[in-house]
Amino acid sequence: MTTLEEALREAAEAVDTALDSLVPLTNGENGRLYEAMRYSLFAGGKRLRPFLVLSGADLFDVPRAWSVNTAAAIEMVHTYSLVHDDLPAMDDDDLRRGKPTCHVAFDEATAILVGDSLLTLAFEAVTAPSGHPDAGVRAALACALARAAGADGMAGGQAIDLAAETRELGLDEIVRLQQLKTGALFGFSCEAGAILAREDGAARVALRDYAARIGLAFQIADDLLDHEGSEADLGKAVGKDAAAGKATFVGLLGAEEARRRAGALADDAIAALGRFDDRAEPLRAVARYIVERRH
Ligand code: IPE
Ligand code: IPE
Ligand code: MG
Ligand code: MG
Ligand code: MG
Repeated sequence: MTTLEEALREAAEAVDTALDSLVPLTNGENGRLYEAMRYSLFAGGKRLRPFLVLSGADLFDVPRAWSVNTAAAIEMVHTYSLVHDDLPAMDDDDLRRGKPTCHVAFDEATAILVGDSLLTLAFEAVTAPSGHPDAGVRAALACALARAAGADGMAGGQAIDLAAETRELGLDEIVRLQQLKTGALFGFSCEAGAILAREDGAARVALRDYAARIGLAFQIADDLLDHEGSEADLGKAVGKDAAAGKATFVGLLGAEEARRRAGALADDAIAALGRFDDRAEPLRAVARYIVERRH
């Protein structure tokens, strides 16, 4: 049986191959922009969202040749969100994925353009005919990705996150913030397989429920790691949330209660997969990993 570690590595290799051809090394006129895009893409991310896309698609036996395109697209959107999240106007971070952040290694304008380019390239990837033979499915992927990334998704969550630095949020508001900021891209990642399989019924709803729970659990784990992890393990600065006055579960409830909630969410996520057979084992295993991870 394949271990989760092996499955994560295999998914990372598949998505890296796709990203390498989508964002090639080039000596052309925009060689520096491409270099900066590749710098952030290949800095050593966990590739969790691609793993969710590929594992979700495997539930319905969607060919990997199709799902890997969507997996690469979500990793480009995620990497763009990190490049912009690290900018001085946002979290102002110098270290990401164990390396100087994009705007430090290059410059701010380049980092903004890296984000713009990765976001738009993601839409080119999900609408490319190689990603699915049915144009309706490709349009549905683009629509779902747009919703997840935009003002009612990740970007909207980032706006609330920044506004919350100067205002106390209650528990419901923090849940909403995390659902948008982190949960929306997890939601797309988990539902993409159902979209690729033209599966619009109970199976898709189950994946949506699973995603909502692991998305929240993931962000609670991220907040816990900021509170008690190490820069060496995480490849990014720690202790920044409290210093910046960020609204987090850890800040509101304390580390112990936040950890308890993350664990309960992982249990609930696994329960949401009850209708699926053994093909859902990778999704079950990754729910545990998300709350137990050290980086
Ligand atoms: C970090 O995401 C940003 C959050 C949404 C909390 P990851 O922890 O998945 O970052 P990488 O991709 O592994 O660098
Ligand atoms: C950022 O959340 C999430 C997105 C980029 C959308 P954080 O600001 O907590 O992420 P880290 O801790 O810098 O990775
Ligand atoms: Mg942030
Ligand atoms: Mg940040
Ligand atoms: Mg964080």
